[in-house]
Amino acid sequence: DGKKASANAADHTLNVAHRGASGYAPENTMAAFDRAFEMKADFIEIDVHMSADGEVVAIHDLMVDRTTNGSGRVSDFTLEELKQLDAGSWFGPEFAGEQIPTLEEILDAYRGKIGILIEIKDPSAHPGIEDAVAAALAERNMDKPNNGKIIVQSFDHGSVAYFNSLLPNIPTGVLVGNLADGISDEALAQFATYADYFNPNHRMVDAELVERVQAHGLKIAPYTINDQTRVNELIDNGVDGIISDFPDLISHTGQPQ
Ligand code: G3P
Ligand code: CA
Repeated sequence: DGKKASANAADHTLNVAHRGASGYAPENTMAAFDRAFEMKADFIEIDVHMSADGEVVAIHDLMVDRTTNGSGRVSDFTLEELKQLDAGSWFGPEFAGEQIPTLEEILDAYRGKIGILIEIKDPSAHPGIEDAVAAALAERNMDKPNNGKIIVQSFDHGSVAYFNSLLPNIPTGVLVGNLADGISDEALAQFATYADYFNPNHRMVDAELVERVQAHGLKIAPYTINDQTRVNELIDNGVDGIISDFPDLISHTGQPQ
């Protein structure tokens, strides 16, 4: 039956915790990453921007307003100023004092423990961010033929191609929104020249798309699915990964944990 199919397929579907286990703890904080690790997710997904002094930091928006007690553009703050912001209280008082983590802190805390899917956000607002991400990985010897535990993705496909030219051993992913006209075979073939994953909004995904993407040698990990029925459907469709705020929806038994 459908449940059984999900159970079997889920054994090899990557469980990616979107911005950490962001259904349970403030997104892009160590609290959310720890929660994802505890829940045995395969990967944490993190969003990165760059501070005024060139530090790569994990935060989703261009502005600090929604997820901290500060106000203004991330790129106008130095790292020291960003570190003074409270990135936890907006989610719940028990998370007061959570800080915006740097990419380097995340790599040092989680390498070898859980995979890290790094999304480069708004790279045109942060010239040099690909080089900074590549340097953080190379300094840690994490740029070698891969253990499969780092992936770099972006909605900016030029940024993905450029990153791939810097560290060709690191798998990369192309993000797309819910494209009204779907995606052509030509576009998929082009993505496959520099990317390993095609990660679309889940609303455009069906079994036929999964098959076409995989026929181009690409993997597919759609975002962001927070509904058990839809998770099971996508697993049955054969996706390679599921990006969710609730990593407990994708237990490797295919059942809620
Ligand atoms: O991992 C893909 C997904 O995170 C893209 O959307 O806005 O949540 O970064 P967003
Ligand atoms: Ca993201």
